Amino acid sequence: MSIRRAHHCLLRRLRAARPSLASPASRGRSSSSVAAAAAAAAAPSPFAPAEPLPNSHPPLPPGTRVTIPTPDDWHLHLRDGAAMAAVAPHTALHFRRALIMPNLSPQPVTTVAAARAYRGRILAALATAADAAERAAARGDPGADPTAAARLRAFEPLMTLYLTDATPVSEVEAAAAAEAEPLGGGGGGAGGGGGGGTGGAASLRPARPLIAAFKLYPAGATTNSSQGVTGDLSRALPAMRAMADCGLPLCVHGEVTRAEVDVFDREAAFLRERLAPLLDSVPSLRVVLEHITTAEAAAFVLDRKDDGGGVAASVTPQHVLLNRNALLVGGVRPHAFCLPILKRERHRAAVLAAATLPAAEGGDRFFLGTDSAPHPRGAKETACGCAGVYSAPAALALYAAAFEQRGALADGRFAAFAGRNGAAFYGREANGGTVTLVRRKGEGDGWRVPDSYALGGDDVVVPMWAGQELAWRVEVDD
Ligand code: DOR
Ligand code: ZN
Repeated sequence: MSIRRAHHCLLRRLRAARPSLASPASRGRSSSSVAAAAAAAAAPSPFAPAEPLPNSHPPLPPGTRVTIPTPDDWHLHLRDGAAMAAVAPHTALHFRRALIMPNLSPQPVTTVAAARAYRGRILAALATAADAAERAAARGDPGADPTAAARLRAFEPLMTLYLTDATPVSEVEAAAAAEAEPLGGGGGGAGGGGGGGTGGAASLRPARPLIAAFKLYPAGATTNSSQGVTGDLSRALPAMRAMADCGLPLCVHGEVTRAEVDVFDREAAFLRERLAPLLDSVPSLRVVLEHITTAEAAAFVLDRKDDGGGVAASVTPQHVLLNRNALLVGGVRPHAFCLPILKRERHRAAVLAAATLPAAEGGDRFFLGTDSAPHPRGAKETACGCAGVYSAPAALALYAAAFEQRGALADGRFAAFAGRNGAAFYGREANGGTVTLVRRKGEGDGWRVPDSYALGGDDVVVPMWAGQELAWRVEVDD
């Protein structure tokens, strides 16, 4: 995507395009006729059901329970303001911590001070949601969850800073030294840990670091990336060397932006043209290749797992469950459009194969990062739709379905992917507590993902798997 196109996308978001269509739920309400109900039932789903995957393992028996450590989401977009207040609880109800992406609009989070303020806004929104959950439980509202308030209060946002051509070394050093305020309400979460890195400088990191990582967006690569790093990344080299010295990881959106490179080839080109040379010149830099989508990216991580600072990857639910047919066959499905874009089947299979490798073969370098990225429905269902899949409410159950298909759900590999590998890479302890995934007893017994969720104002967001029933549901054990 060119800078100008990304900018258009941004402008549209800013103008808060109102949904031009009523949600399926409201359509249903507005008509009571049988014909309308039948038409609604036949309406195409925003996400086509994935075909059973080749060589898939048989499903686990109905009622199977799989318990894992309380998971973390190592790649999350929360936005700000009313949208943030609307979506943050969906993540906090299932995950204990999340790495919060800094691509806010119009001003991305480029300084320690801005990250501290943003973290405060997230915690305040969750505290308000917790108060409301407590009141609902006290009233005995139908569906009120008596454990929700405690989870909303225990959630810990781990902040990132947006790297630009102009990020000064002093801001990197300030980021490495910044300490987060303790969570209010006594919610402890797991221990802070050193924030990554194994060298002496890394041990200077505070007990509870405010900033967990920097995020590199090639300028123009994706949503709200226009202030990202330009060209061959050399302008940001001093800042990236300082990150290596301080033990601060760099999260990378790995796509080139040159117009002549096909959108399906942009990740592989970035690895060759940008990331390999960067790691040659700063070998001790710890890098997370975010939301990997290709066999080349999986191989890149596995090839370098023992090098210098270490390379790891986050993996989204859409990139292990869907290939590009889900985007284009039978009609364009804009809610499945994200960047990097879904690839062909062999890439989906390679990413899932890497994520389900045993630790001894490099599987510990892959971890859960949803890239859940809410956009108003009207900004997706339009002539030039924004990139981003809103997966937070259903993510854990969707990953479970993908791991089940590889026979990797109940043998500890999913527990490592969702609850341990990311924490270990970022130098944090795994969370205390557990969540349990429960397989539905049969068709009709599972959780049906809502058609949409409120996103503040008049906006709604259409979640991944909207309107479909999931094979797994999540129970939180503590
Ligand atoms: O699809 C995406 N959406 N990819 C990104 O890299 C950014 C994200 C967003 O912020 O909407
Ligand atoms: Zn992202």
